[in-house]
Amino acid sequence: MSVHANARKVTTHTLQEMKRAGEKITMLTAYDFSLAKLVDRGGIDVILVGDSASNVMAGRDTTVPMSLEHMIYHAQCVERAVDRALIVVDMPFGTYQGNSAIALESAIRIMKESGGHAVKLEGGAEIVESIQRILTAGIPVMGHLGLTPQSIYKFGTYTVRAKEDEEAAKLIADAKLLEEAGCFAIVLEKIPAHLAKQVSDALSIPTIGIGAGQDCDGQVLVLHDMLGITTDFSPRFLRRYLDLESQITGAVEQYCEDVRGGDFPNEEESY
Ligand code: KIV
Repeated sequence: MSVHANARKVTTHTLQEMKRAGEKITMLTAYDFSLAKLVDRGGIDVILVGDSASNVMAGRDTTVPMSLEHMIYHAQCVERAVDRALIVVDMPFGTYQGNSAIALESAIRIMKESGGHAVKLEGGAEIVESIQRILTAGIPVMGHLGLTPQSIYKFGTYTVRAKEDEEAAKLIADAKLLEEAGCFAIVLEKIPAHLAKQVSDALSIPTIGIGAGQDCDGQVLVLHDMLGITTDFSPRFLRRYLDLESQITGAVEQYCEDVRGGDFPNEEESY
């Protein structure tokens, strides 16, 4: 077991120490009390209240419609469940781009109303002013580079980013900028593994990869994808640890059969 797995609370400093010690950081998403409790109990280091809630909880095609209120609600549910993990909350689209005063106000609302421990923002140079302003309030910030789903209408597709030299060079420059600005970690999403290694080696803050190969300092997956609850999303980087879709539908089928056949409830299950 890792030396950090027993630590009472994971902080941004714990993650920094883990990078220094060469110990991998684990991160998963969660959006509700019951699953967040299990994820925390499983020993995860970081729980991301991701705006991927838009996809897996609300059934939307993109993360664009998420509001600050939605994110605060999900983060409140998670916060009530968690004893150990660091809770990072995604700032939703439209709450930090282009106006650092609004960014600060949004981040303060997340911290005060949800009890989360840090916020995550997507983007590099374009949003660095917002990041700097949020940091002035003592709010820890996680960056997010590569495939940034809030910009899906700019990219047009969810394919691998930064395969070309120009985009790779911008990503490296953005990563350094975010580190200099004071981010405590950076998510690298869907970029070539060699580029993620180059960025991870160049930074002193940890990188957390999703579809970015094994040389990142940590890994993150969307909980519903790795548990096999969502089955219509099968990117190459996704490893499914369970097949809950068939187990849950199987249990529901069995329940329907039992009720319809008069087998449930039986005498022992009655008063
Ligand atoms: O919203 C989310 O779940 C994320 C992860 C994919 C990193 O940002």
